Amino acid sequence: MNAVLSPHSPLAIRRLTPSLGAEIGGIELARGVAPETFGAIYDAFLRYQVLLFPAQDVPPAAQVAFARQFGEVQVHVMSMYHADGFPELYRLSNLDANGNPNGKHPDKGTLVWHTDGSWRRVTGQATIIYGEIVPETGGETHFCDMYGAYERLSPAWKARIANLRAVHNLDFSRTRRHGTDLMTEAQRREAPPVDHPIVRTHPETGRTCLYLGDHAESIVGMPYDEGRALIEELNALAIHPDLTYEHHWKPHELIVWDNRCLMHRATSYDPQTQRRVVRRCTVLGEVPHHDAPA
Ligand SMILES: [Fe+2]
Repeated sequence: MNAVLSPHSPLAIRRLTPSLGAEIGGIELARGVAPETFGAIYDAFLRYQVLLFPAQDVPPAAQVAFARQFGEVQVHVMSMYHADGFPELYRLSNLDANGNPNGKHPDKGTLVWHTDGSWRRVTGQATIIYGEIVPETGGETHFCDMYGAYERLSPAWKARIANLRAVHNLDFSRTRRHGTDLMTEAQRREAPPVDHPIVRTHPETGRTCLYLGDHAESIVGMPYDEGRALIEELNALAIHPDLTYEHHWKPHELIVWDNRCLMHRATSYDPQTQRRVVRRCTVLGEVPHHDAPA
């Protein structure tokens, strides 16, 4: 697909799939983004859901400054991941002090479809990841469109979940997926379970999407096991290969995505032989809501 330079946009936009994702050319993030250019980037963010900025040097301060143009940046409760003196940045790395692979995957929770910050009352808006070192094989990031996931549900499913709320709990998903490096009591107190509608109205586009993922533990007002089964079934139903963008990283690329209308996951890589260091920044969004159809 060729780049399209819209007369109304200062950006060179190349679509990554027919349904979601776009590469944005012609922007040097390290120089800072002027407000009018940022407006065009934000329009593309709402339209394409995932934006890829081709390989370029993005120092930590520039990444945080770019993230702040989207909104308030989250300081993660898991403070051992803070990077480069910026509490807004969260570094995932499998390197030891000598820069060699340490054999451990730093966050196994990222391998399962989820949406960032769904375990908070105010959930994640944008996540911005910069790939410092990326594996030659594996360590991909996959995105699936949750507008499309909702649209493709049967009328019976839509009716069944219309007013349901799911309890999202970081302690649940982390304990389940990790088995080690569990949350401390203080971190648990800082991130208590919260509930959100399963059917969410995107606050800016007004479109309806499915809002669930791996942090969802149970359904409000439903027996625990029944809720678990419903969540597992719906999480699987939400993924459609033709509504998915699979990104194979090149070093120094930067990706921004909209957590309100996407689920994402990382694919595994061999942490014994491959090196992967990424820095991530999550921008806070809003408390999810669902506008009932008029
Ligand atoms: Fe994530």
